[in-house]
Amino acid sequence: MKVLVTGGTGYIGSHTCVELLSNGDEVIIVDNLSNSKIEVLDEIKKITGKDVKFYEYDVCDKDCLRKIFKENEIDAVIHFAGFKSVSESVKKPLMYYRNNIDSTLSLCETMEEFNCKKLIFSSSATVYGTPKKLPLTEDMEVGGTTNPYGSTKLYIEGILKDLYKSDNEWKIVLLRYFNPVGAHSSGLIGENPNGIPNNLMPYIMKVAVGELDHLNIFGNDYNTKDGTGIRDYIHVVDLAKGHIRALENIDNNKDIKIYNLGTGTGYSVLDMVKAFEKTNSIKIPYVIAPRRDGDVAECYADSSKALKELNWKAELSLDDMMSSSYNYIKKNNR
Ligand code: NAD
Ligand code: UFG
Repeated sequence: MKVLVTGGTGYIGSHTCVELLSNGDEVIIVDNLSNSKIEVLDEIKKITGKDVKFYEYDVCDKDCLRKIFKENEIDAVIHFAGFKSVSESVKKPLMYYRNNIDSTLSLCETMEEFNCKKLIFSSSATVYGTPKKLPLTEDMEVGGTTNPYGSTKLYIEGILKDLYKSDNEWKIVLLRYFNPVGAHSSGLIGENPNGIPNNLMPYIMKVAVGELDHLNIFGNDYNTKDGTGIRDYIHVVDLAKGHIRALENIDNNKDIKIYNLGTGTGYSVLDMVKAFEKTNSIKIPYVIAPRRDGDVAECYADSSKALKELNWKAELSLDDMMSSSYNYIKKNNR
């Protein structure tokens, strides 16, 4: 297939491009490089031996999208482009609503214009709000998001559901990611955010390479086994493969499809710290800090629907997540 990947130089997008190319698909990336670097294209080529076509455009810009669709006969789109920081979204809600929603509307309108109606969208476990029951299944109620970023994902899901209702020719898949971590085994692509990281694994990695002196653990008084927050961490390569399975199955879809992509196992913050220390033989100093606003105590997936319908399940271990993260940051620390 000829696949347009929006946000393809980003963290999850770049790993998905590698899997698409390895699968024999042709890849076209559109990214405005607002949160990624052009060098990622060379790294993708080093890993796969294949070239990707790249457009440095803003996905909100319909004229630019039209040019891409005119120049390429695109079969399907995987839409990763968007802003993703929870804390930044609280400070700059309009910027988040504008970028995440506008890019999706421009993309879908252009797809409709060019009669390309196969779309995979990057959604998030955040759409479930505070879980009422665990593990989370796709049929559980969504809503009650606690920040503008989460709300953009919720609203976009609603927009895409309405779009499907209006025209059943669309083949739309909403993938709800849990907590992606880790990096490609080559150490060439991974996650290395600018400044002080918001997320747990990038923070641990910066402590590991001595750039930050300790981790702040946000709360140890949750109602969990050790008091720290529990999440479903999934290796980014497993997550990337989930997109390939979703794409391979897309023609069989009789409805808009929603899948949780997680491992089904929850680990606490302390589990993650200990696992990183054990795998990489390195100490991660930490202090217990107050709870972070908007955090839920516990969140993990039931991903059995993806297994049943897509024949997909996460295969890489916690050890793989820890070793690949460290391998990547050692090679790429700036
Ligand atoms: P990322 O920031 O690494 O990648 C997103 C890419 O999109 C970046 O390369 C950025 O430059 C690009 N981009 C942003 N706005 C754009 C625009 N208007 N036009 C063109 N390019 C644009 O993030 P990621 O971790 O790879 O996440 C990918 C997607 O998955 C996002 O939609 C994110 O919300 C979603 N998601 C991520 C997580 C996570 O924890 N990483 C969890 C759930 C869902
Ligand atoms: N945590 C710390 N210290 C830190 C960072 C995080 O203790 O410095 C804790 C958090 O309190 C939480 C856990 O580590 O208990 C995971 O936090 P992350 O920030 O890594 O991840 P979140 O679960 O908060 O959110 C992430 C993405 C969201 C996405 C969600 C999907 O940031 O975009 O996963 O489940 F929506």
